[in-house]
Amino acid sequence: MNKMLVRGGTPLKGRVRTQGAKNAALPIMASCLLLKGQKMVLDNVPDLQDIDTMTELLRSMGVVVAREGDSMEFDVPEDVSCEAPEPLVRKMRASSLVLGPLVARYGRAILPMPGGCSIGSRPIDLHLKGLIQMGAKVEMRGGFVHASADRLRGRRIYLDFPSVGATENLMMAAAFAMGETIIENTAREPEIDNLAAVLRGMGVKVDTEGTGCIRVGGVDGFRSCKERVIPDRIEACTYILAGVMTGGEITVEDVVPEHIDALLAKLEEAGASFSVSAAKNGAENSVAVHPAGKLRPISIKTMPFPGFPTDLQPQMVAALTKAGGVSFVEENLFQARFSYAAELNRMGADIDIKGNTAVIKGVDRLDGATVSAADLRAGAALILAGLAAEGVTRVENMEYVFRGYDAIDAKLRALGADVVLEAVE
Ligand code: EPZ
Repeated sequence: MNKMLVRGGTPLKGRVRTQGAKNAALPIMASCLLLKGQKMVLDNVPDLQDIDTMTELLRSMGVVVAREGDSMEFDVPEDVSCEAPEPLVRKMRASSLVLGPLVARYGRAILPMPGGCSIGSRPIDLHLKGLIQMGAKVEMRGGFVHASADRLRGRRIYLDFPSVGATENLMMAAAFAMGETIIENTAREPEIDNLAAVLRGMGVKVDTEGTGCIRVGGVDGFRSCKERVIPDRIEACTYILAGVMTGGEITVEDVVPEHIDALLAKLEEAGASFSVSAAKNGAENSVAVHPAGKLRPISIKTMPFPGFPTDLQPQMVAALTKAGGVSFVEENLFQARFSYAAELNRMGADIDIKGNTAVIKGVDRLDGATVSAADLRAGAALILAGLAAEGVTRVENMEYVFRGYDAIDAKLRALGADVVLEAVE
């Protein structure tokens, strides 16, 4: 099923529950490799193709992985294969998150260099630089990274850019290094804190001061652990925008408001109507979206957390195509993340890409068309545009969307949307 037919024009209504966060679950799954001869249980794991790919990768290394509903168990043998199969790494860049745990715990790792992807070049130089600073030997041979070390040593590392992946790989490597590691200018995304909680569960001292500096006290052994994946802030925001774009009345459940402040602030600026409410049991919050008419034009710059997330940039541009004026959206993390703009223009939008900025002149209507997703978030943006368009939109390459959105068709239908998946001819 790789196409979605979207008949637009229906204001969405009802409640939708946020899945577990893909970008928290993936590094946490990789961290199980630290647990020689022990187990990790992970709850609230989303049902996604990327999770399946990471599962396949861990199984190829010898980890016994079981799943029941949204709970997964990882039973790690005393010894694992330290080579990541090329097809899996090519399928998913996040496979490179096994590098830190493997080099630290088993003293070696062989990983195909993850190529670029449709949103940008995406090197892993900061990951490798940090490992080398901790004493690893790293060689590139035939498109593969060969990394080895007797025992990594803790030290102070300054990241040239607050990379999410580099922060995660080095946190995991530092967990089995000798002494303390201090990583500066780290990523501050909520997914980093989720990984830190897992490492603490394994018995590692981790201080994430939330200020972009992380201290990790290396240990000589780990204990089995059990952890819960945080809600997926990007998925939650995608549904919030679906409500805003269709003039609907929806409630998105299990949202952590502090994780989505950037979007809520921009929606307020654009004149959208929403309310954040704490659920009775005090554990969960939800965001309710109310009809509010045309959005006001706004300007956005994507930045590392707590800035406006790049993973929401395409969906936000889709929402601004029908705003009352000219909006500007500047992309600062990935240099090729506007692939969807031409597709939205096929639907009658008026988007002009100037360097790393999308200039969006608001139009009164979008019309359904056949459009193609070039990556995960681009696909989500095209579905949102289809929901807000007149007529039928056919979104192709849904396989990208299934990498990050669990049961998106069923969830949208539960909100009253007229969507159906279509099989390949
Ligand atoms: C994570 O990717 C997310 N993926 C991405 O989400 C997200 O877009 C990105 O962080 C930024 O928020 C996962 O968590 C699995 P980075 P990651 O390292 O870790 C440059 C989605 O849609 N850089 O923070 O790869 C890099 O080129 C995906 O769910 C280096 O130059 O992102 C980019 O410009 C897409 N050298 C910037 O830093 C390095 O060694 C941010 O990359 C590493 C990164």
